[in-house]
Amino acid sequence: MLETALSELESRGVSLLESAHDASALEDARVEILGRKGALANAGKDLAKLPVEEKAKAGKLLNAAKQLLESIYERRKAEFEKAALDARLAAEWLDLTLPAPGPKPGSLHPLTQIQQELEDLFTSLGFAVVDGPEVETEWHNFDALNIPATHPARDMQDTFWVEGGYVLRTHTSPVQVRAMEKFGPPLKMIAPGRVFRNEEVDASHEHTFYQLEGMMIDRDVSVAHMLYFMKSLLKHIFGREVTVRLRPGYFPFVEPAFELDIQCLICGGSGCPVCKQSGWVELLPCGLVHPNVLRFSGIDPEEWNGFAFGLGLTRLVMMRYGIDDIRHLAGGDLRFLNQF
Ligand code: DAH
Repeated sequence: MLETALSELESRGVSLLESAHDASALEDARVEILGRKGALANAGKDLAKLPVEEKAKAGKLLNAAKQLLESIYERRKAEFEKAALDARLAAEWLDLTLPAPGPKPGSLHPLTQIQQELEDLFTSLGFAVVDGPEVETEWHNFDALNIPATHPARDMQDTFWVEGGYVLRTHTSPVQVRAMEKFGPPLKMIAPGRVFRNEEVDASHEHTFYQLEGMMIDRDVSVAHMLYFMKSLLKHIFGREVTVRLRPGYFPFVEPAFELDIQCLICGGSGCPVCKQSGWVELLPCGLVHPNVLRFSGIDPEEWNGFAFGLGLTRLVMMRYGIDDIRHLAGGDLRFLNQF
């Protein structure tokens, strides 16, 4: 009787263990057949009740079944463990001979990009790129540019004064004077750089911004020469002709003085906060260098003359990329900067 039961138990166990399709099904089968309260354990209890002469024979059978089932269990368990390990190795495989990815490359600030483009353009036209101090003497920032202390033009620029009569330069124009002093005529130079004004900050005003000064001193320089260079500059930057207007301006260091405006590229001329609803943006004030400025810089105005311009680099960046708030440019926000 028990023999039949044992052989049925054995074949049920074999089929349960062999048919388990994953490690957890195998574990369930083990508990059911080989566990402490499983089928084999129960058969062991039945066996204890048998008379002595039958007990030995049945005991052998039970042991044989147990060994068989345990060996099947061990084999299948090893199979699942190997499969799990293989899958993990395949998933975590790593080629250690590949070069490391390294840091993500950054990009140049849009102001730097435009500055470098203009430096390339002007050097190709024979201009030198020169630099001047950001903390400037009153003489270079004002007097030598024909703006004496008593002149109302000093009020055109809200100035940060520094102790000792120095100023945070309010424009890049003082570099004109420094270049003329240093190199003399003939001279073709540009001077990009940072300038400072005591301004209330809003969408189009910052206390710190960038300009690019330009100057050409030679014999018989005319407004026509100036316009040629101004148009080359705008075409180079915008990659197309932009609508411009030239109107009389006033700057004490040039005579005649002009304001070269471009049609606002943010709103297309219909009016927006950047162009103060006028449709036009002052971008490129320019003119013929005032004889006093040449004289103050040690150049004879009877022999030499020239033109000068002061490009608003920050404003140019805003126009080119359609940036509607100047504060983005100084913000250092990577979500903004990553776009360039
Ligand atoms: N320095 C002037 C400013 O910041 C801009 C300027 C006007 C520069 C006319 C020039 C010029 O060289 O010719 O407002």
